[in-house]
Amino acid sequence: MKKVFVMDHPLLQHKLTLIRDKNTGTKEFKELVKEVSMLMAYEVTRDLPLEEVEIETPVCKTTAKVIAGRKLAIVPILRAGLGMVDGFLNLLPAAKVGHVGLYRDPETLEPVEYYCKLPTDVHERELIIVDPMLATGGSAKAAIRFIKERGATNIKLVCLIAAPEGIEAVHKEHAEIDIYAAAVDECLNEHAYIVPGLGDAGDRLFGTK
Ligand code: PRP
Ligand code: URA
Repeated sequence: MKKVFVMDHPLLQHKLTLIRDKNTGTKEFKELVKEVSMLMAYEVTRDLPLEEVEIETPVCKTTAKVIAGRKLAIVPILRAGLGMVDGFLNLLPAAKVGHVGLYRDPETLEPVEYYCKLPTDVHERELIIVDPMLATGGSAKAAIRFIKERGATNIKLVCLIAAPEGIEAVHKEHAEIDIYAAAVDECLNEHAYIVPGLGDAGDRLFGTK
């Protein structure tokens, strides 16, 4: 089943508005992306299984719930995805971090993988791919493909802003993937930028042009 989860928590929406604002500078942009990512991590991990353990409080023995040892990995798509990693690790400090680097071949326009380093036990882990922007979906589709080729089967995709075109493209190739977004925007413009979007996420994060 195709699933898209749009997170409409007021704190998240407030921070996303600041992120979108062109007058928000690099330092604040980076901090806000981290904060929003942390809020998203809370929701993305809602289905983590729990188990009962025995503990002793200062008052008595009891049983209480802990996360049942599900192995996680955060996988940013280079480069802008890096901006979301620390927010996730704040809530999931034991998660491993893999990296996928892609560029678009100027001739074929096909995404080409230039870097991929994942935890060796990737087939046992839930992989959370992070990238602020899901525009045409070309990068996300390719990243998911490369990760699947290395044995991963349990994959989620988390982005700040998704275009309807990107969601459709990802689900056309990877129908089972759950997509989490803080917003689904209107459309893409003629340069494949999300409208209204936030501009170029990588440039705004790293202060490049
Ligand atoms: C941005 C963004 C996504 C991609 C989305 O990265 O971070 O990876 O574009 O566009 P798509 O859905 O049309 O593929 P970009 O290619 O600008 O590279 P960067 O992260 O190095 O800035
Ligand atoms: N990549 C970005 O960084 N922004 C967009 O709007 C589309 C792709």
